[in-house]
Amino acid sequence: MNARILSPGEEALAEAAAKLRAGELVGLPTETVYGLAADARNPTAVRRIFAAKGRPSDHPLIVHLPCAEHLPQWARDIPEEAWALARRFWPGPLTLVLRRGEGVPLEVTGGQETVALRVPAHPVALALLRTFGSGLAAPSANRFGRVSPTTAADVLEELGDEVALVLDGGPCTVGVESTILDLSRLDTVGPVILRPGAIGEESLAEVLGRPVAAADGGAPRVSGSLPGHYAPTTPVRLAAPGEIELLVSRLLAQGKRLALWSRHALDLPGAKWYEMPATLEDLARLLYARLRAFDRLGVDEIVIERPQGEGPLARAIADRLERAARGSGGR
Ligand code: TXA
Ligand code: MG
Repeated sequence: MNARILSPGEEALAEAAAKLRAGELVGLPTETVYGLAADARNPTAVRRIFAAKGRPSDHPLIVHLPCAEHLPQWARDIPEEAWALARRFWPGPLTLVLRRGEGVPLEVTGGQETVALRVPAHPVALALLRTFGSGLAAPSANRFGRVSPTTAADVLEELGDEVALVLDGGPCTVGVESTILDLSRLDTVGPVILRPGAIGEESLAEVLGRPVAAADGGAPRVSGSLPGHYAPTTPVRLAAPGEIELLVSRLLAQGKRLALWSRHALDLPGAKWYEMPATLEDLARLLYARLRAFDRLGVDEIVIERPQGEGPLARAIADRLERAARGSGGR
């Protein structure tokens, strides 16, 4: 691991911006997860992101902007709906898919005629974006298909050899990736959520004054929507609160060593219990760190209680857990 973790003072921000201008990659804290940032106008730098992550080159990236006023430099035919959402939710965990602006490298958009844009709410991300003065392409700073990083140390562990430096913004406060809303097909199919996040369809619909659809088959490619994404290497199994004890007993009877994450303690020899946070906010915030920690335990399987509750965070967490279970070969 060659990279350094820097506390974000003025000097560190200037160094990070200089590295980015030189076409290098920087670990970037955001309120959702850490990003792997590159100058979005530099196709060579953007290609480095794909190489570092092992991500297929047709999977588009999100461009992060210092403020909504930069939108016209990246998108064209911007609908009034986009401005209304930007006013209400930016900076924040909402990504808007719009029609690709002139000069946006096809490397960024995975060859598509749309581009994903967001203004992140993390003070360090905003400070770097302002110092840099332009858009930063930044996917989550994990290897393709793996669990997203929520601390600077996670980024080093995932991509320490690939980044010039990592800015330390502390642990992410939201913990799951931004909601992605497709506004590029407003006239034909209307607004469509491509990935659930902390901002839910209810609050989006309220601003738009029209219903918002969940992901559909005709949607553009979203790698986070592949079945096996956000996956630890240890198999993950999900169980409803009423079924978990039976499942754990059955796995223990098969001689499996287990880690268990549930709201209430289950005292079964052979299964290490970890308490699941009571609120969805805490659960989302700690989800990826917990999955990473589980992976380090060297157990045979991870059993996780399906979180109860409703609303956008409940849906976002359920979405990530389902993918973790499928991607890890559990169920
Ligand atoms: O919270 C987040 O969004 C984090 C932080 C770092 O900002 N970023 C993130 O990036 O989750 P990534 O690359 O891991 O996920 C971005 C998703 C991908 O699933 C990609 O397919 C989708 O955004 N995406 C990007 N451009 C798109 C486009 N033009 N049309 C449809 N989906 C797009
Ligand atoms: Mg990702």
